[in-house]
Amino acid sequence: MKRILVTGGAGFVGANFVHYIFEAQKDLHIIILDKMTYAGNKKNVSDLLGDRVQLVIGDICDVPLVNKLMSRVDAVVHFAAESHNDNSLEDPLPFVESNIWGTYTLIQSAVKYNTRFHHISTDEVFGELPLRNPISGVGDKFTSNSPYRPSSPYAATKASSDLLVRSWVRSFGLQATISNCSNNYGPYQYVEKFIPRQITNILSGVRPKLYGDGRNVRDWIHTWDHSAAIWSILKYGKIGETYLIGADGEMSNRDVLTLILKLMGQPVDAFDVVANRPGHDMRYAIDVSKIQSELGWKPQYTNFENGLRNTIEWYQENADCWHADKYAVESRYRQRGQ
Ligand code: NAD
Ligand code: TYD
Repeated sequence: MKRILVTGGAGFVGANFVHYIFEAQKDLHIIILDKMTYAGNKKNVSDLLGDRVQLVIGDICDVPLVNKLMSRVDAVVHFAAESHNDNSLEDPLPFVESNIWGTYTLIQSAVKYNTRFHHISTDEVFGELPLRNPISGVGDKFTSNSPYRPSSPYAATKASSDLLVRSWVRSFGLQATISNCSNNYGPYQYVEKFIPRQITNILSGVRPKLYGDGRNVRDWIHTWDHSAAIWSILKYGKIGETYLIGADGEMSNRDVLTLILKLMGQPVDAFDVVANRPGHDMRYAIDVSKIQSELGWKPQYTNFENGLRNTIEWYQENADCWHADKYAVESRYRQRGQ
């Protein structure tokens, strides 16, 4: 593999992946295709742009552009998407366009040029799990055989894109793999999302905001572990397979917020309870046995407290990446009662 196309590489997970492969694969040339929506930020990759990394500003729905780039690469890792649940509840159309139509455009082109394709998806396609049994501590987890039961327009459009990819493998010989990962955290995440929102609220003198009673559980993974897992799948994954990625990092939102407050020297009750998200999924949890046993991948950044401390430091040291957008993001949340 000499040249790779990374869609959405100026967003959170994509930018971290580009940094990861830039360091880990010194012979690889990387083309980033990113529309630079509100969530894309040139600063996320500007330190890498040059001989080995090229940034093309454009839309994954643009057929001639996609074909031109596809003809130049050996593989695609497809991150580009509208990604925020709350936005999808307010205006689902961009989600349908980028997540469904955009993926369709890319896989048509990948078939045409016989290009290896890796599709990035989320555990949210499986819908919600009940909370663990409070006495035994036992709880179900998602596997690659779990049924698709998406709750939000975001999750539904990601589920649709996964199904398109699966059927293109079978019907048109698309050389594709799929991964569904749990909630990522780390540097470069846009300030609308839970962890960076609370960190940057505290840094801006605003109280953090918790939806509802905060019992909802997410399965947190450091985005650098996600990057390594994607590379393993791209190299060793079996065409047509779906791999679930997670790091056994289940925590309630209330516990995550308490830890952020503690690490940032705040009283643990210094937050506001705000309006809950409609249709808010209760719990996500990933069974990672398949990728661990078949590809030998294991997460490395499993100390959540250390990872969170480093993430807080990143937001402290990189205010230029988030400061300009913070006020507008909070104004939008205020209008929603959140
Ligand atoms: P993000 O919103 O931070 O970044 C998305 C990027 O895609 C942005 O740079 C944006 O400009 C670009 N983009 C959007 N529409 C585009 C279009 N039509 N053409 C070209 N570029 C476009 O999102 P993220 O959190 O980095 O998520 C990236 C991918 O990873 C998504 O597919 C998401 O479903 C998946 N994922 C994310 C998480 C998570 O916790 N963030 C977990 C599992 C899977
Ligand atoms: P989010 O980062 O939006 O990710 P996702 O919806 O993909 O899980 O939210 C993570 C969790 O945090 C989710 O249960 C909603 C909750 N949440 C809050 O409690 N307060 C907030 O300000 C935000 C943005 C999210």
